Amino acid sequence: MDDTVRRFPSQLPALRAAAAAAGFTMSSEDRTGSLLATLAATRPGGRLLELGTGAGEGTAWLLSGMDPAATLVTVELDDAVQRIAREQFADDGRVTFVTGDGGAWLDTYDGPAFDLVFADTWPGKFTHLERALDLVAPGGMYLIDDLLPQPNWPQGHQESADRLAAGLTARQDFATTTLDWASGLLLAVRRAG
Ligand SMILES: C[S@@+](CC[C@H](N)C(=O)[O-])C[C@H]1O[C@@H](n2cnc3c(N)ncnc32)[C@H](O)[C@@H]1O
Repeated sequence: MDDTVRRFPSQLPALRAAAAAAGFTMSSEDRTGSLLATLAATRPGGRLLELGTGAGEGTAWLLSGMDPAATLVTVELDDAVQRIAREQFADDGRVTFVTGDGGAWLDTYDGPAFDLVFADTWPGKFTHLERALDLVAPGGMYLIDDLLPQPNWPQGHQESADRLAAGLTARQDFATTTLDWASGLLLAVRRAG
């Protein structure tokens, strides 16, 4: 057994080419994407949230795991980079794109909770954490990546990442597992009751 990913969303090559042309380098890696698709497939008819669309690679992975009745909201600050994803998925009625600050969106969102939250930007992870966790339904999942050291991290970020992981792991309201895999993942599931 190895952890090489061998099945990819069909849109990935086009998204990667467009992201490269735009100079966007922050897309999720394959192993994270594969896990996103797998987790999305556990929720037929589920409600999913991605914070930080980027160029849409995570979106592609999530959509590839979702069934026809599941829905995804994905939020991105950068209109130009998100446009790559919007154009790619213009015909997929399961996804709603929000263009704006994820923190402002979290502060004002008043709809139902989500079955899977992929928090892949500052808001919902290093800011607005409680708000993002509040939006996880009982039995729902909260996933973050980039917890292992990255070459482009600013000084002191390792401490922030470690503090975040330690705080989540200590919570009683979530069952949490950290994964020394891909860029360093943490999966937290809200306990029911
Ligand atoms: C790690 S990338 C997202 C990658 C994407 N989820 C994927 O799986 O390929 C983080 C994204 O967050 C966006 N971002 C930064 N600050 C933000 C904010 N305050 N609100 C929403 N998005 C933000 C960046 O523009 C960037 O596209």
